[in-house]
Amino acid sequence: MEKLGSMMEYRLKTFTGWMGRSGNGSLEELLNDACDTLVLWPWVTVLWYGGLGLVLSYGLYLFYYQVLVWKRDLTDIGYNHILDAARIGKSDRTRVDTINRARRLRKIGDRLPPPYPNGWFSVLESENLTRGEAKSVDCLGQNLVVFRTEAGEVNVLDAYCPHLGANLGVGGIVRGDCIECPFHHWSFSGQDGQCTNIPYSKSGTVPKVARLRKWRSLEVNGFIFVWHHVDPEVEPWTINVVQEIEDGRWVYYGKNEFLVNCHIQDVPENGADVAHLSAVHGPNMISGSDIRYSRPAWADFGMHSWFASWKAPEEGEPMHIAKMDLVHSFRIFNKFEMGKIDVRAYQIGPGYVQLMMNTSMGPFVVLQTVTPIEPLVQKVIHRFYAPRSMWNAIFQKFAILAESIMFERDMMVWNHKQFIDNPLLIKEDRLIKSYRKWYSQFYSENSMSFTMAKEKLDW
Ligand SMILES: *[C@@H]1O[C@H](CO)[C@@H](O)[C@H](O)[C@H]1NC(C)=O
Ligand SMILES: *[C@@H]1O[C@H](CO)[C@@H](O)[C@H](O)[C@H]1NC(C)=O
Ligand code: FES
Ligand SMILES: [Fe+2]
Repeated sequence: MEKLGSMMEYRLKTFTGWMGRSGNGSLEELLNDACDTLVLWPWVTVLWYGGLGLVLSYGLYLFYYQVLVWKRDLTDIGYNHILDAARIGKSDRTRVDTINRARRLRKIGDRLPPPYPNGWFSVLESENLTRGEAKSVDCLGQNLVVFRTEAGEVNVLDAYCPHLGANLGVGGIVRGDCIECPFHHWSFSGQDGQCTNIPYSKSGTVPKVARLRKWRSLEVNGFIFVWHHVDPEVEPWTINVVQEIEDGRWVYYGKNEFLVNCHIQDVPENGADVAHLSAVHGPNMISGSDIRYSRPAWADFGMHSWFASWKAPEEGEPMHIAKMDLVHSFRIFNKFEMGKIDVRAYQIGPGYVQLMMNTSMGPFVVLQTVTPIEPLVQKVIHRFYAPRSMWNAIFQKFAILAESIMFERDMMVWNHKQFIDNPLLIKEDRLIKSYRKWYSQFYSENSMSFTMAKEKLDW
């Protein structure tokens, strides 16, 4: 006790000493010192609030410009009913095995359509391929190398070098317009895939047949698309630029990204399946994405209501574009309506959808791409763009989360459903029939069958 007491005294002494006085630490003296110290207070206050202000503004600045990325793997969504029953946690080593067993046990259905339709498919997002970068992309039953030249142009070639089969996307180096193979440094032109240089060839000639398949590609609206069509004569359609994105009036607020375990046709079919909207997307979003629990009584105070219609193109309109109109509102106690969103969606080909939205607080756009990675694995991305504002800095993040929850509810169905070739539809389901008829234009006689596609993969 004594020791502690003297230490206290010592501290007080040095403190008051530091304030320019000496004292013995009595209360009176301490108060006197405190009064003198007050002279210093304005400065302390200024520093304190100034610092706080700086930290807050920096936080606000980060929040204003921060994009939200919500990314889920194949094993993240839709298998909880199995994992919970077996008490398997997030980092359990048996997790992936258990999920894969569930995938193998699923009867996927008979007469599945070809897994890789004809059309434009997203292979990368623009921001993920910088100048001089080369990446390998596996999708559509193909192994591709996608690279950006120093001049900024994107090229897509078959990945395997015709020399000894190295994958150009794994260690290949971009040189000018060409990509150089990592194995023996043969160079291939991005323009046409022709080999242009074999550094150790004494004659300096290059065999004409040393050529890689060149894929047509298109970079638009933040995505890099590749044209996949089994019939080489068919000319690709173009994907329209979203002007607001192109000229920078609307900016990128973030995205979500999922791997879904179903046939590609199932994902856009959602647009024509109006009856699932109130069943799956009606329950309040705050009750989450697990459809086993997505309708607890306590969340019933608020429900999402949807009015939807789907339209195949009419005479004279481009065949590859279908339209969907959707009106969303959030109803509280089935009385008050808020959060009204008017949606006009364009399904452009088999794997790309533009959703133009109007709300009372302004417009925004969501771009969806669906790319088949395996016959029954789809990579789905939604990217969000809107005018730059404080409101959108808040609202867009909310919208991304809300849309992710709604999409994950669909995923929980998709990951376990069968594909039914001849579904049992009632009159009210007729749009699904029109949708399937419309979508069938993206398969041709020569499309690789589902069975063949599965056999070609190394399982
Ligand atoms: C794609 O680019 C974004 C933004 O630069 C980055 O955060 C993300 O990690 C990249 N993803 C991949 C797979 O490289
Ligand atoms: C959104 O508003 C714009 C401008 O008023 C209009 O041209 C567009 O058709 C609207 N879109 C939807 C989906 O309501
Ligand atoms: S394998 Fe590509 S250069 Fe030899
Ligand atoms: Fe849905």
